[in-house]
Amino acid sequence: MTLQNFQRLAFVLIRNCLFGGNIASLRFILSPRKFATYQQACMDLWAVYCDIGLPSVSLSRFLNYKEDIKIGLWNIKTLDIMGSSTANMKDRLIFATIAKVTKPKVVFEIGTFRGESAANFALNTPEDAKIYTLDLPPSGGELTPHNNSQKQSNIIDRQIIKQRCTEIYVYESIEEGKKVVQLYGNSFDFDFRPYYNKIDLFLVDGAHNYAAVVKDTNNALSVCDTKKPDKLS
Ligand SMILES: C[S@@+](CC[C@H](N)C(=O)[O-])C[C@H]1O[C@@H](n2cnc3c(N)ncnc32)[C@H](O)[C@@H]1O
Repeated sequence: MTLQNFQRLAFVLIRNCLFGGNIASLRFILSPRKFATYQQACMDLWAVYCDIGLPSVSLSRFLNYKEDIKIGLWNIKTLDIMGSSTANMKDRLIFATIAKVTKPKVVFEIGTFRGESAANFALNTPEDAKIYTLDLPPSGGELTPHNNSQKQSNIIDRQIIKQRCTEIYVYESIEEGKKVVQLYGNSFDFDFRPYYNKIDLFLVDGAHNYAAVVKDTNNALSVCDTKKPDKLS
């Protein structure tokens, strides 16, 4: 670990401990991972209750649906409710519900990881749907120099990239997985032009730094909407 990464990690740990920590969190003091996850969850909730960040809205209002719906979730037994996995149960329920209600014909995802969200999209989209999922090439398990030059690619990304799928993606283990098309490349310089105006639903779930999220979001807006929404800056 470089000195810069170490400093960044120390900063995050101290910040979370000071602001996310409370007496109850002392219970986890001997399990550093749970300790950090709990504090991060507290900070996330704090931001929601303080209305910091994007405004939140209930899913049924956002999607404008009233009736009950049935969704499929891949391997629900392994999902943490709040957990520190790349997407927890709440996230997966939300992705699956959005897919089920909006019935997209073409989905694009940045960030395959082990293929779990792709599997859930496959389970909750129409039979003839197609799901494109993009990740860094298997050989390029490290962040690319392009990403590094942003100096914002963080420790979380390095760890996630190391834990990526090495053998088969989970969508390959289900019948519906045949809807999934695996793509490799860095979303920073991936050519999205062939997908312009062809995507109905887009999940931005790749690199976790501001510059990457802005770029990925702008690409998502370009490929999804014919009305050309305003770009983020
Ligand atoms: C949070 S995980 C995705 C989790 C997955 N969507 C799920 O819910 O199952 C992030 C993934 O993005 C990939 N990634 C990071 N930077 C990327 C980039 N610049 N271009 C493409 N993929 C990237 C990582 O390799 C990692 O697999």
